[in-house]
Amino acid sequence: MISETQKPVLVCVVGARPNFMKIAPVMAAIKEQSDHLQPYLVHTGQHYDEAMKDSFFRQLGIPEPDVDLEVGSGSHAVQTAEIMRLFEPVLDELNPFAVLVVGDVNSTIACGLVAVKKHIPLIHVEAGLRSGDRQMPEEINRVLTDQISDLLFTTEKEAAKNLVAEGIGSERVVFAGNVMIDTLLNNLKNAMPFSEVLRKYSADQDLQIIEKNYALLTMHRPSNVDDKEVLSRVLETIVEISQKLPVVFPVHPRTEKMIEKFGLVEKLKSGNITCLPPLPYLEILGLMSSAKVVLTDSGGLQEETTALGVPCITLRESTERPITVDEGTNVIVGSDYDKIISSLKDVLETGGKSGQVPEKWDGRAAERIIQKIISHYL
Ligand code: UD1
Repeated sequence: MISETQKPVLVCVVGARPNFMKIAPVMAAIKEQSDHLQPYLVHTGQHYDEAMKDSFFRQLGIPEPDVDLEVGSGSHAVQTAEIMRLFEPVLDELNPFAVLVVGDVNSTIACGLVAVKKHIPLIHVEAGLRSGDRQMPEEINRVLTDQISDLLFTTEKEAAKNLVAEGIGSERVVFAGNVMIDTLLNNLKNAMPFSEVLRKYSADQDLQIIEKNYALLTMHRPSNVDDKEVLSRVLETIVEISQKLPVVFPVHPRTEKMIEKFGLVEKLKSGNITCLPPLPYLEILGLMSSAKVVLTDSGGLQEETTALGVPCITLRESTERPITVDEGTNVIVGSDYDKIISSLKDVLETGGKSGQVPEKWDGRAAERIIQKIISHYL
């Protein structure tokens, strides 16, 4: 319980893996300004495994959550409703001056909705990104969270246009930069060397994988892994790629379940593919920075590869992060065999797409965000 004599409270929310990299620099920036405000960190428990949660808190120095709502997995409706139900009493007890949410997961919209219904201002970090694909649960979460937010921090300049087009006043939108890249720059020197990652996590200790001569694959989007035909086609393409370039594949729990369910384990084993468990941050950072190319359907990896200058082939039909294509190293290919193979050919023959680091991806986004929050509300 926080007494009235204490500083104004900012409730910060995390729930799923991609949130942890985003909240870490925000919590550090709040600590720097602890004369002005005090954080209260809520973990909804959307992700709960050691590999999906605890390792990130430890490695990124995120303080222990003040409360863990322990909602766990469920359908979208059940998960979202359960987060809302358990988050409400937290706000009743704390009476914060604002609630800060990051990213686009179910925890983001669930907590945002509870806050605004209680007339507590909502702050959204990573606002304004749009893929245009409303089949993606994250797109719905983005559009709705932005609509109800009071202060919206964007990672790329063009994102403001999406918000204005949806009727959001430009005075509420602040181009702050990319908190995920704050985390990347803060941790790059501590990244685990790729060879150590393989030694530590692979069952096969005789791997012949050389620096800048392997592809890193990550894949967990429902559109890629929940459909047997699509998953089967993508895996077949990856098996073919692996004959030319070894593939390292940390497997998300959702993907692992689907590979087993659809009977695709043998197909996966037929390629030169090293499967690993989901990895902690410093491990994935080490694998990413030493890869020749990254194949992914993640949003975060599209941005991180652009910041690192590593070519990225995105296994999705669209991206909500167009700056990674316009300025960075990213190409969008979907799940089409020909497009994936021809992008890989380009990487092998020419080294792939080069790019530049976008504006304000400079390691100071969280600092700018907290300064703005203080001047705006306190
Ligand atoms: C969620 C986010 C997605 C994000 C991804 C990163 C939403 C709508 N989706 O998707 O944007 O890119 O996290 O990982 O919020 N599971 C475990 N251990 C865990 C968590 C989940 O085994 O710690 C399993 C559960 O069986 C669950 C499945 O993984 O059913 C999927 O988890 P869920 O949180 O529903 O969605 P993600 O696919 O992880």
